[in-house]
Amino acid sequence: MPDYLLTDEQIAAFHRDGFLAIPALTTQDEVARLREIYDRLFAQKAGRETGDQFDLAGTDEENKEAALPQILGPSKYAPELNDFALRKNALAVARQLLGPEANYAGEHAILKPARSGAPTPWHQDEAYWNPALDYRSISVWVPLQEATLENGCMQFVPGSHKLPIARHQSIGNDPRVHGLELAPDANVDVEKAVACPLPAGGATIHLSSTLHYTSANHTDAPRRAYILVFHAPSKERETPRRFPWQEEKRTARQERADRAKATNEKPAVM
Ligand code: NI
Repeated sequence: MPDYLLTDEQIAAFHRDGFLAIPALTTQDEVARLREIYDRLFAQKAGRETGDQFDLAGTDEENKEAALPQILGPSKYAPELNDFALRKNALAVARQLLGPEANYAGEHAILKPARSGAPTPWHQDEAYWNPALDYRSISVWVPLQEATLENGCMQFVPGSHKLPIARHQSIGNDPRVHGLELAPDANVDVEKAVACPLPAGGATIHLSSTLHYTSANHTDAPRRAYILVFHAPSKERETPRRFPWQEEKRTARQERADRAKATNEKPAVM
């Protein structure tokens, strides 16, 4: 087994900048197997009915081409993902960065279709999460082919992890869209952004408050990203905060999830 642990310099850079790029976190053989599962799940629309597969950047109507298809928890639909070395390697790195209490918290997949894949606007992941909690959390973003400026590699604002969570809104200020973007009055400077091109099976790692962005996919091949999330235990915040953009959201994805839940809970009729 190759050793993917971080050096002291990498750990220091992560805490200084709020992100880190590393050239490899798993083998090319595993990337190839992962890519096969990934393409199958999107082709089969796995999780569509339960609200786990949806359009992150669009209004997500039935039979409408998704601008930015996402699957939450792909391992629910392909349990073999739980056994990938990538998971163990990423956990080891997460514990180096967050401490021994860090644990796996979930995964998702974001596909940018060839030519049509939309940008993921600037945001902080924590804007999606529970405003009552203080998080110590990282996302490990793994491209399953080369990630470039042209197909939508990750870009970060160094040091932005020290900022509070800015004002966000649904993309295009349309509450039917799941994805978030910075609100026009967010007053955040992204001028000093750093792009992180990566080989397949490399990774970027960022904190839940680090500002990040990916461009549209301008190439003829899909851009596949597989993302693993790790949390240190979170605690209740002392100073409350509100994320009104969450309260305004009304997505088709949530409707499907609610419907699937209601169907499951219905007692069987004999
Ligand atoms: Ni994000």
